[in-house]
Amino acid sequence: MILSVEDLCIDIAGKPALRSLTFSVAAGEVLGVVGESGCGKSMVNLALMGLLPDGVTASALRMSACGVDLLRAGSRDWRALRGGGMAMIFQNPMSALNPCLTVERQLLESVRRARADLDRSAARAEALRLLDRVGIAHAGARLKSYPHELSGGMAQRIMIAMAVAAGPQLLIADEPTTALDVTVQAQILQLLEEIRRDTGMALLLVSHDIGVIEQCAHRVQVMYSGQIVESGAVDAVIGSPRHPYTRGLVAAQPGRSGMPPKSRLATIEGSVIPITEEVDGCRFRPRCVRADHRCLQPQPMRQIETHSQRGSRCHW
Ligand SMILES: Nc1ncnc2c1ncn2[C@@H]1O[C@H](COP(=O)(O)OP(=O)(O)OP(=O)(O)O)[C@@H](O)[C@H]1O
Ligand SMILES: [Mg+2]
Repeated sequence: MILSVEDLCIDIAGKPALRSLTFSVAAGEVLGVVGESGCGKSMVNLALMGLLPDGVTASALRMSACGVDLLRAGSRDWRALRGGGMAMIFQNPMSALNPCLTVERQLLESVRRARADLDRSAARAEALRLLDRVGIAHAGARLKSYPHELSGGMAQRIMIAMAVAAGPQLLIADEPTTALDVTVQAQILQLLEEIRRDTGMALLLVSHDIGVIEQCAHRVQVMYSGQIVESGAVDAVIGSPRHPYTRGLVAAQPGRSGMPPKSRLATIEGSVIPITEEVDGCRFRPRCVRADHRCLQPQPMRQIETHSQRGSRCHW
């Protein structure tokens, strides 16, 4: 496994926020993570990269990536890992790039960290090759640009070039297309898939759009209010969701087959409970149409099929 996480718990200001997350990603695999805004997807990514903000702490039974024990990693291990074996692209490419520095300065920094053996002109040639790889036309001129001169799609391509400069084994893509229109979204997802196929890297793809996950991922885990509530192969989970929250997400997707034309879209009533709020029993209970007395007990992850990694945190 490239990434292996067992019983990861994250506290915010001393309060439990993410609860007992267990998951793994194999080499070359795409694991999709889906869930509403505020359910803690980005927080998990920050924990994996060792970038949790002040006041936020993580503990786990096991957390390893690219053969490194993340629970015992020192600052030197982290430096080697970030932008080496493991890289991340962020939700908003415009705010992830430094507005005061040219693309050249920022991209060369990634290239030279990954390839200390290259002199300046070889590093520049490598930067041009990377820009070409991510589909940026007139790469030479683009190197001179500042981030405000780029479109959102171009900025995200540059973020991807920086992330893959070191040939990572695992790329964490946190909503890489949320800020982009659908045409550019499709191009960026295709680019990520091409790079994954060429290099064999694994991808942890976070999105609140279940359609994106369905299109790109092999396996999916559904998050709700700081927990994983369902996981398994994409076809199985989206084709026949077991957890009422997953059912709600799938039903709320426009254009699902079986919906009569012009019918009203299904919605999940209410909103996500803040992740630090305590709830008796199942955290989805206040919004669940199937809730009964059994849901007042905390719901463990139940394995659904013994031969697969399919599980759901619901007694139904
Ligand atoms: N720096 C922080 N300090 C304290 N609490 C935070 C911080 N960042 C996030 N949180 C809390 O953690 C919750 C989950 O945040 P997170 O960014 O992980 O959600 P998300 O699932 O990535 O949402 P989105 O889909 O909007 O990106 C937030 O609702 C907020 O309450
Ligand atoms: Mg997020």
